[in-house]
Amino acid sequence: KTLVNTGRYPPCIEFGRYEINTWYSSPYPAECARLPKLYICEFCLKYMKSRSILRRHLEKCGLCHPPANEIYRKDNVSVFEVDGNANKIYCQNLCLLAKLFLDHKTLYYDVEPFLFYVLTQNDENGCHLVGYFSKEKHCQQKYNVSCIMTMPQYQRKGYGRFLIDFSYHLSIIEGQSGSPEKPLSDLGKVTYQAYWRSVILEYLHKYTDTNITIKSITRSTGMCPHDIANTLQQLNFVAKKDGKFIIQVDKRVVDAHAEKLKKKGVIRLILDPEFLRWTPLI
Ligand code: COA
Ligand code: NA
Repeated sequence: KTLVNTGRYPPCIEFGRYEINTWYSSPYPAECARLPKLYICEFCLKYMKSRSILRRHLEKCGLCHPPANEIYRKDNVSVFEVDGNANKIYCQNLCLLAKLFLDHKTLYYDVEPFLFYVLTQNDENGCHLVGYFSKEKHCQQKYNVSCIMTMPQYQRKGYGRFLIDFSYHLSIIEGQSGSPEKPLSDLGKVTYQAYWRSVILEYLHKYTDTNITIKSITRSTGMCPHDIANTLQQLNFVAKKDGKFIIQVDKRVVDAHAEKLKKKGVIRLILDPEFLRWTPLI
């Protein structure tokens, strides 16, 4: 049997009941990354060299959810807030896992200054990792997301959108606006742009009569003024009047979006703030 050189290390992982082809290399220790397949405990994220080691590990792992406080639960979806300082190994392993699906450099070891918001889908076997985003505890630039990832087996189902929405809800609770850390990956860009566009269109659909300002949108969405202005521009909702830029909404575009949502019967995973138990770090 010849080994195909994929150029990715490791080329494949076993994770819970999934076997997943990786997208990029991640700096696991060489003796692990060089294997054709790496075995990862889906609960504690420890990586192992063989299935038998993983099987033995699972008998004593004891974890069936991320090692942290559950700050959101509705139906079968939860979010856990993991502190990089309190659960260093878990967070390092989460970063190593995320790097498999990220093209740019990201942090792996210096996890202490970050919080990790881990989204799970729950069943009788435990809380299964769907995705996460990280957030700097004290961010000078007011980034509300450092890195965001949905596991490939859960992508294109609305979880990325849910995570982004979650990050903006935290910003709203903190009483400030936020924006993701740059650079964004191509997938990060399309996902954020789709999110911003829909949030603004839905805001404009809801508040038709009030005086629309960037400030009013910021207050209700947590989006920073710069991202709002850009999105309005892309929607062609910015006009120049008497030498000043004004917001000029094309109602047809707003209504068409609302119609599309209704028609598609978009089964969006909605964040219900009533189920969020969280107070900001001070
Ligand atoms: N192609 C085109 N549009 C896409 C897309 C893709 N592959 N992925 C997301 N979008 C857009 C779509 O408009 C989508 O809505 P739709 O499915 O109704 O068309 C919208 O974003 C929301 O997608 P969603 O299902 O919520 O996103 P996701 O769970 O797949 O997660 C990422 C999106 C970016 C988190 C995921 O692709 C990922 O983890 N990528 C690898 C890591 C990464 O690049 N992270 C960002 C930089 S830190
Ligand atoms: Na990033």
